[in-house]
Amino acid sequence: MRIFGSTGPTLTRKRIVLGVTGSIAAYKAVSLLRALVRDGAIVQVVMTQSAMKFVTPLTFEVLSGHPVSTEVFEAHQEMKHLSLPEQADAIVIAPATANCIAKAALGMGDDLLSTMLLTSQCPLIVAPAMDGGMWTHPSVIEHVGTLRARGAIVLDPEEGPLASGRIGHGRLAEETTILEAIQTALAPRRDWQGQRILVSAGPTQEPIDPVRFISNRSSGKMGYAIAEAAQARGAQVVLVTGPTAVPIPRGVEVVSVDTAEEMTKAMSTRLAWSTAVIMAAAVADFRPMHPVSQKIKKQGRSEQTLHLERTTDILASLSAQRTTQLMVGFAAETNDLIAHAQDKLTAKGLDLIVANDVTTEGAGFGSDQNAATLIDRQGGLTELPLMPKRALADAILNRAHELLQSRQSHQAPTPIAGGR
Ligand code: CTP
Repeated sequence: MRIFGSTGPTLTRKRIVLGVTGSIAAYKAVSLLRALVRDGAIVQVVMTQSAMKFVTPLTFEVLSGHPVSTEVFEAHQEMKHLSLPEQADAIVIAPATANCIAKAALGMGDDLLSTMLLTSQCPLIVAPAMDGGMWTHPSVIEHVGTLRARGAIVLDPEEGPLASGRIGHGRLAEETTILEAIQTALAPRRDWQGQRILVSAGPTQEPIDPVRFISNRSSGKMGYAIAEAAQARGAQVVLVTGPTAVPIPRGVEVVSVDTAEEMTKAMSTRLAWSTAVIMAAAVADFRPMHPVSQKIKKQGRSEQTLHLERTTDILASLSAQRTTQLMVGFAAETNDLIAHAQDKLTAKGLDLIVANDVTTEGAGFGSDQNAATLIDRQGGLTELPLMPKRALADAILNRAHELLQSRQSHQAPTPIAGGR
């Protein structure tokens, strides 16, 4: 069946999981389902136990043309909490209760819908509906903030008469608003189009002799994830990288270096070309003063002294030379995270710093996950919980993009020196 009159881009053959939770607004999910099907989406409905008290699964089953899933463990069934999100292009929860939002934010999995969210990698759109002032409860505000920081689209409920008869914020967003949010989430984001980003990644290696060097534990994964995400969002990206084992992201120009000195040159010569610099590399702060061209022999010595000298602080020097570029740095810390990061933000003249506690379990060097706090020049803090590095890269780019836009709207356009 095809009903004409839909607005906006088509959702043809997009696989959408529609989560319905226990709110009086559950009946509106029926109409949303019809609109999604009308726009060509393949919709699988997942209901919570309380949702079934408001609308029967049969209604959704008939309109979606697919069985409704309600249980994690259904006899003779595949593992729905894994298979549904794996196949989905987006998960939409409408209506979402305060309980469902809290479980999603806290990572609880006590039913099919909440467990699915723990395994899903696709965009999440949440349309809350709640009565009795719950929307402004500090706990709900905090959980909504957590989900948004992780990249979920959480729509604001609308103001108006609620089921209880009160007037307040809590009505499910209009169907067109939910549909627009789904379309936005599924459309490739090109918000960095027209920007030129210089990203650094990985460790540097400072030679002692032809077979030995000083280096650090950086894997390069975070910087590569940023380069990949920025490219996917439309930016032109040059990635200056120390030695790593990470595959080169498609569409990104790569400049390979070994030492801090080589990285300094590679970054400085491209500064004028760039509109933003994201310095994720773990640059060695010291290098051997006298690297030698032949292998150092033990020659019966029981001790050996290595004299080190400071390398250039690349970020500070780029920041001192910048014209209009947005400067983003990282702070890898083991203690006093925020204070140390704030000091670096000021000392290096940055717009944004990504503060990273490298002792956090499951985060930091070598891991595929990371957590961070973003600190901007005005002292604004955004806490980003443990998440895949690619998701963190997007969250960093979201904040950097906001700052870039407010910078560029306050600045008269400055001619960019050509070439790189
Ligand atoms: N950085 C740099 N050049 C250096 C050292 C660091 O550009 N020689 C950059 C890093 O890429 C990072 C930021 O500066 O974006 C902070 O790096 P970090 O290692 O956390 O701190 P340091 O400035 O080296 O200070 P310390 O080692 O004392 O913590």
